Amino acid sequence: MPRRISDDLIARICDENDIIDYVSQYVQLKKTGRDYSGLCPFHHEKTPSFHVSQEKQLFHCFGCGASGNLVQFVMRTENLDFVDSLKFLADRAGIIIPEDDVSLNDENHAKKKKLLAMNKHAARFFYNCLKDSSIGEKGRQYFIKRKISWKTVTVYGLGFAPDSRDMLIKHLTSKDFTVDEIVEGGLAVRREGRVYDKFRNRVMFPIIDVRGNVIGFGGRIMDDKKEVNGYKIPKYLNSPETLVFDKGKNLFSLNLAKNAKESDVILCEGYMDVISVYQAGIKNIVATLGTAITENQAKLMMRYAGEILICYDSDEAGTKAALRAIDIISSVGGRSRVIRLKNAKDPDEYINKNGVEKFKEAVKNAMPSTEFKISLIKKQYDTTTADGKILFVDEAAKILAGIKDAVEVDAYITKIADDTGISRDAVLGKYREKTSKNTYRRIPLKTEYQKKNERKEREIVREEKITPGLIAAEKRLLALISQSKKLYRIAEKCIKADDFSTPTYRKLAKLIYESYSHDNTPEPAIILNSFSGDELAEASEVFYNLEVYNGDEATVKELLYTITLEKLDIRINSETDAVSLAELFKEREKVLEEKNMWEE
Ligand code: GTP
Ligand code: MN
Repeated sequence: MPRRISDDLIARICDENDIIDYVSQYVQLKKTGRDYSGLCPFHHEKTPSFHVSQEKQLFHCFGCGASGNLVQFVMRTENLDFVDSLKFLADRAGIIIPEDDVSLNDENHAKKKKLLAMNKHAARFFYNCLKDSSIGEKGRQYFIKRKISWKTVTVYGLGFAPDSRDMLIKHLTSKDFTVDEIVEGGLAVRREGRVYDKFRNRVMFPIIDVRGNVIGFGGRIMDDKKEVNGYKIPKYLNSPETLVFDKGKNLFSLNLAKNAKESDVILCEGYMDVISVYQAGIKNIVATLGTAITENQAKLMMRYAGEILICYDSDEAGTKAALRAIDIISSVGGRSRVIRLKNAKDPDEYINKNGVEKFKEAVKNAMPSTEFKISLIKKQYDTTTADGKILFVDEAAKILAGIKDAVEVDAYITKIADDTGISRDAVLGKYREKTSKNTYRRIPLKTEYQKKNERKEREIVREEKITPGLIAAEKRLLALISQSKKLYRIAEKCIKADDFSTPTYRKLAKLIYESYSHDNTPEPAIILNSFSGDELAEASEVFYNLEVYNGDEATVKELLYTITLEKLDIRINSETDAVSLAELFKEREKVLEEKNMWEE
């Protein structure tokens, strides 16, 4: 099935990725006039002829002719086809491509709907059990002990799974779900030919996605003794991954947090942490689903929040997990800080012990992630000794080497120098040492893309009836009409898209004309998505030098005459029949006359 990505989505993906930002991973760019320039990553050169325009979101090498938009840059550098490059950029911007949902073929779609319906029934069942005066007593007592109000229970749809082998199975089969479906949906387990309810004698936490679907459950035991009849039992039991439950792509309580007014989001480890903090009125809080944070989860949060405030447990495991979270978040271009809670093991305990105001204060004082990392390293070394200082500065410089923001780096260099008493220059030197290697990502000398292109090279259909003058005029005309509707209107009356002389120009003209006829202004970066290989270079060149193509109505008229005359000359040059030739000359005469009249 061909994957189709809508134009709107392509536009959004292009909008939310900046070409300068991306290309800077490969090339050291310098601002030169209106463009940025640097050494071309696609061929060897000593003086920079590679230009990138932020305004137009295009790149162009005047040395080797490589050019295009960001998607095409990604195609070349990451060796991906068009759709995969778009997906890559979508991922980078945290945009989810709906068509990309591999499990959205019809069969799976129906299955998913059924599982979601089953989960909804199960959630209602657990909730009703908790509410039931006799069955739910133990569960209600547990929530009371944890200081969870009934209101919070209803907000989260918390529930109780009774201590029974198959109450849920019976309930769901009465609602027309088969035992196989219940097992496949992770709500029952098959053991030695018998089926059991998966969740028994636990308080239940439904996991709800941003669209409001119940996608899975977490269930917690109510007394913290971890053994029953000699069997170890886990404190929390989570639904297994199913067709609708991907633990790495969802977050607990994001459905509620996404509506919070704050621009940042607090990330913690436990369901109970989220619920306690939410109950205290802080709603921008989510938790991972019992696993370490993934890139997808980071991106998901970034869709809703500017900054991610990591609030993990204060023990060693929590600290390690926080460090990993910082790196994951930054690897997908996100920003994070770290909330540190003193004298409590987790946010739930902290808020119950110290109250919400203290928690808010801790949130406000969240530590920048770099500072957090450096402070942890500092603890590992005895910085009162020379050796300790050297090792500390060395490690700290490594951290700084990973930071893009020059101002941030500079500030930390000063801070490290001040903290250790080592000269600023020496710290700076260490930092430079760490950055000099592998600063820019390297592109393999010949990518598959380039090889493929080479094979195709010069297969370009060379139309005979073209003159350099004609090409120059058409190129300039296309450039002019692409930036002005007024100029387009003049041109469109005299020259149809099909009248242009090369296949590329015809296609380009068609796209420009179409944009205007849909009342849009043509976007070079978007239009170029329709081109590849040599055509791409040819099309991109039209847009790339817009600056030198300044012109007005008069220019357009002049160009239209030039095109008409050039075309006539081509015909005259190849005409052998005397009568036809005479007519062509007559026509030429007429055009020249018109032109002169208009010019006077
Ligand atoms: P409380 O003990 O109820 O306060 O929960 P907590 O959220 O503080 O738990 P903890 O910090 O121990 O664990 C954090 C998260 O890790 C939980 O919310 C679960 O998602 C997950 N988790 C904890 N224990 C287990 C376990 O035994 N098995 C699994 N699969 N996940 C667990
Ligand atoms: Mn806890």
